[in-house]
Amino acid sequence: MYIGIDLGTTGVKALLVDDAQHVVAGVVAPLDMARPKPGWSEQDPADWIAATEAVFDGLAAQADLSGVAGIGLSGQMHGAVVLDAADAVLRPAILWNDTRAHAEAAAMDSDPIWRKVSGNIVFPGFTAPKLAWMKAHEADLFDRLARVLLPKDYLRLWLTGEAVSEMSDAAGTSWLDVSMRDWSEDLLAATGLSRDVMPGLVEGSARSGDLRRDLAGRWGMGPVAVAGGAGDNAASAIGVGAVSLGQGFVSLGTSGVVFAATEAFRPAPATAVHSFCHALPGVWHQMGVILSATDMLNWYAGLVGAKATDLTAELGDRARAPGRAMVLPYLGGERTPHNDARVRAAMIGLDHATDRLAGTRAVLEGVCFALKDSLDALTATGTEVPRLLAVGGGSMSDYWLGALATTLDLPIDRPVGGDFGAAFGAARLGQMAATGAGAEIATAPEIARSFDPDPNLGAAFADAHARYDSAYTALKDLS
Ligand code: XUL
Repeated sequence: MYIGIDLGTTGVKALLVDDAQHVVAGVVAPLDMARPKPGWSEQDPADWIAATEAVFDGLAAQADLSGVAGIGLSGQMHGAVVLDAADAVLRPAILWNDTRAHAEAAAMDSDPIWRKVSGNIVFPGFTAPKLAWMKAHEADLFDRLARVLLPKDYLRLWLTGEAVSEMSDAAGTSWLDVSMRDWSEDLLAATGLSRDVMPGLVEGSARSGDLRRDLAGRWGMGPVAVAGGAGDNAASAIGVGAVSLGQGFVSLGTSGVVFAATEAFRPAPATAVHSFCHALPGVWHQMGVILSATDMLNWYAGLVGAKATDLTAELGDRARAPGRAMVLPYLGGERTPHNDARVRAAMIGLDHATDRLAGTRAVLEGVCFALKDSLDALTATGTEVPRLLAVGGGSMSDYWLGALATTLDLPIDRPVGGDFGAAFGAARLGQMAATGAGAEIATAPEIARSFDPDPNLGAAFADAHARYDSAYTALKDLS
């Protein structure tokens, strides 16, 4: 048996999976996020540990864990966890959707070495500019810095005692030479750092260490290998079998992602598409990332005082032509394709008839249009995906997937009931590390329902998308 842990933004999820890859048990522990200033987003790494202890305790209460041979870790990418020489946390972790480092990111990105070596724009949400921000604004803390870890790798330090990362998450720091799959000493030096503060690197499917004996004993486990694991998007790709060229998925989670596996490193920084290592050796991937997908829906649900799932249920199951009301879901700026940390969300085209239902539709459509902009950016690099699997909490909505298929003009497949997201992919990586299995166990799930583009709505969605893009052009000048 294997355990997959996903350290998400809104909670830690653990799945127990048997040798035939059936999910035997699952537990989620929620997490809060602090926004101490506009554009900032932080979490206390101690909360991640507490939530991880809770999900392991929960699994141990539901099932006998003595047969667990491997654990895989997945997590929100790009966060900066900064530790002193005693491995004590120096400040709250600065998360992937925090854009405070926009000035530092722009300055770094203006030096061509960053895009040349890392293959990506230095986005404000990536890890390196956050350290540059600390150096400029929290110099006393920066001087005490002895270690930088990504969120799931901080969990690994606690679970195994090892400071190790893996290629897919490391690619999102801006410090990785993504084609060589190794830290770039030049890029580290440009941030005033060296390899000494960085974790060691393994492939996602390789063993990174073993579960600490005391923890294994507490949860009734024997010796357990802990795999490198993956950033949450590469882990989801392992979960849905998106591991070779032409295979991809769309994620409607807190963030929104259009992901495509690639056989080689295909950098295209000018498009704001991310080009990263995959979680398997010799495989890379590309993705367009929007910062607010279900995050936008949850914000709207809070505004109108309803549950997000009730709002989507109210819409029924068949997408309709977009109305006049339009939402641009840029609550905290945007990555692909705009790389715009300053822009903020907007609701426009409201009239007397606009009600809560029209607002929900506009939110879902706005996320679809933002994802279409990401897909267009991906296609512009020459990467084609003939269809996409859907993952993430938002993929439970028929209305949303129907609207998305029509907007993207691609069929979208929803897997059979169950969870094929990041925690499941992480469990598969745990299995690979424990048994030596490889990509052959990362199979595609059975499909429960496919959503085809609706030819009767295609023109209306394309028209609304064109209005959406013009609205962004006007909005960015206002923000
Ligand atoms: C990817 C990204 C997000 C986070 C969300 O680049 O920033 O998808 O990984 O957890």
